[in-house]
Amino acid sequence: MKWTGRCTWVWCTVMGLAALGLSGCQPPKSEQVRPVKIAAGEMDPAAWGKAYPVEYELWERTKEPTPAGKSKYKRGFDADRITYDKLSEFPFMALLFSGWGFGVEYNEPRGHAYMLIDQLEIDPSRVGAGGVCLTCKTPYAPKFEKEMGIDYYSKPWKEVHAAIPKEHQELGVACVDCHHHEDMSLKISRGFTLVKALETMGKDPETLSNQEMRSIVCAQCHVTYNIKKSKEMKSVGIYFPWHGSQWENISVENIIRQIRNDPSVAEWKQKVTGYKLAFMRHPEYELFSKESVHWKAGASCADCHMPYTKVGVHKVSDHRVTSPLKNDMKACMQCHTESAEWLKGQVTTIQDRTVSLMLRAGYATATAAKLIEKVHAAQGSGKLLNEELYGQAKDYYEEAFYRSLYVGAENSVGFHNPTEVMRILGDAIAFATKAEGLLRQALTQAGEPVPLMVNLELDKYLDDRGKKKLTFQREVEIKDPFGIQDRLTLVRHRD
Ligand code: HEC
Ligand code: HEC
Ligand code: HEC
Ligand code: HEC
Repeated sequence: MKWTGRCTWVWCTVMGLAALGLSGCQPPKSEQVRPVKIAAGEMDPAAWGKAYPVEYELWERTKEPTPAGKSKYKRGFDADRITYDKLSEFPFMALLFSGWGFGVEYNEPRGHAYMLIDQLEIDPSRVGAGGVCLTCKTPYAPKFEKEMGIDYYSKPWKEVHAAIPKEHQELGVACVDCHHHEDMSLKISRGFTLVKALETMGKDPETLSNQEMRSIVCAQCHVTYNIKKSKEMKSVGIYFPWHGSQWENISVENIIRQIRNDPSVAEWKQKVTGYKLAFMRHPEYELFSKESVHWKAGASCADCHMPYTKVGVHKVSDHRVTSPLKNDMKACMQCHTESAEWLKGQVTTIQDRTVSLMLRAGYATATAAKLIEKVHAAQGSGKLLNEELYGQAKDYYEEAFYRSLYVGAENSVGFHNPTEVMRILGDAIAFATKAEGLLRQALTQAGEPVPLMVNLELDKYLDDRGKKKLTFQREVEIKDPFGIQDRLTLVRHRD
């Protein structure tokens, strides 16, 4: 988008308002005025819906499947009621995550209405950490954390879930998570995670502008987090690893430094290497706010995922939160004058390039992991090893692993910050390739031959997913555009 000449009136208004510290991208709205008071602590969205029926109805629509074929990579939950299995889309993940829940079942996301339902349906190993897993899934989380203290984190998931009132045991993100009941202004309801995390960076939450709040309400959940473990491996806390970072500059390097230096967040043991590692989850906020073009232009998560929409005579924020592609690029066209087709082409091109590097980084990391397995086998049979080479290789391997994990967990497939993603994946490939070289050298010195092509045994990891028999079917064929691996994707039909 060029600044001069092609700027739409909406966008000019945005920049004008943004300069004044007001909310962005805001066509004049017609207010819905209903004399209904919402009680303090009201959890039930239906009660809020009495005052704001239009937003309520849109919010409810997050349970509808999205039309198939609109998004190339985030197919989510489509009209065929299919959910896509991330491990068979990216088989190196099955190898790298083997050893715990993420290696058993890992699905592409779907609408907000399903967040708690999906926890009920997923392989139980994924909620093994306990009540702490409810932190981003129920509006009752802040209340429970306050009242139960440490028990909230450590008690079995089922037990904490059972404390939610019956009628809300399937309720996901609700009005009360994002809004003050009195004036509908935006608020942070998860002080115990997000406010603390902002404070580690020296950012006072009171100073956030409304436009910043339109991203921060999403950052309550769409961030990476770590679960703290006791010596007995019980969950005792949760934090966002933003230590050492600054506002608008949460770097993957600082996150890796933080989690590698804190043994209490080593939540799992990677099967192939035997290493105790930390994990990363959906860092949408971190990646987007790290000086991306759109963050710098003053755009917010809500601008692209909750665009203004006309419902009858009302102009409201689209509370059917979804991918802009599944909404025919309407969000983008609030600011851009290009056609929907052009905009979609840009998104897909960015994503194709990201996936190309993601596959390279993922397979390079998986290859290093398999060589580490070989080193351990050689040590087991009494072979003497060059510890210096091995130590350096281990360090490089972990650096590669976390970078590849970061991008793979981020849900925009690169769009939120294309240049940053390319930088991170470039580093991942460099670290993994260096690790591979050192491991080959160490193995050769120890008298262990290493074949040119390392067998990753991907089928083994894809098929051996623990006790629960998943109802996946192999049926969607994917031709990998980069020729690294043609494969079948497992899909899961839902009733
Ligand atoms: C309380 C936690 C929470 C908050 C707050 C939250 N999300 Fe989500 N979001 C989730 C979870 C969990 C999922 C995945 C649900 C599933 O797959 O079951 C999700 C899924 C999504 C999806 C995928 C939807 C689809 O159709 O596949 C988008 C887009 C999204 N969120 C954007 C946002 C935006 C934008 C905001 C802020 C306005 C936001 N979310 C606030 C937890 C949250
Ligand atoms: C400039 C527009 C833009 C902004 C700003 C933006 N996103 Fe996105 N987001 C996208 C696009 C485009 C995709 C890719 C969707 C696809 O491939 O279907 C995406 C994908 C996602 C997804 C996965 C959607 C799915 O269907 O599975 C989530 C979740 C998400 N974004 C959350 C966020 C959050 C949270 C923020 C703020 C921290 C944010 N986005 C900011 C444009 C944006
Ligand atoms: C994930 C966070 C989130 C949830 C959940 C949510 N909203 Fe909103 N809501 C927003 C955002 C962001 C805006 C835009 C606010 C702004 O720009 O100041 C908004 C705006 C509104 C507005 C102002 C008018 C408009 O449409 O822009 C109303 C009224 C509203 N929401 C009602 C509701 C109701 C009722 C629910 C529950 C059924 C709900 N919201 C759930 C994030 C959320
Ligand atoms: C809030 C306004 C806003 C929204 C919404 C928005 N954009 Fe942008 N976009 C901008 C601005 C401003 C720029 C920077 C333009 C410039 O300086 O040339 C930009 C830049 C871009 C670029 C060029 C990126 C680069 O690295 O130079 C692409 C591609 C793009 N947008 C696509 C999209 C798509 C696709 C969507 C919807 C998913 C979208 N935008 C939504 C305002 C917006």
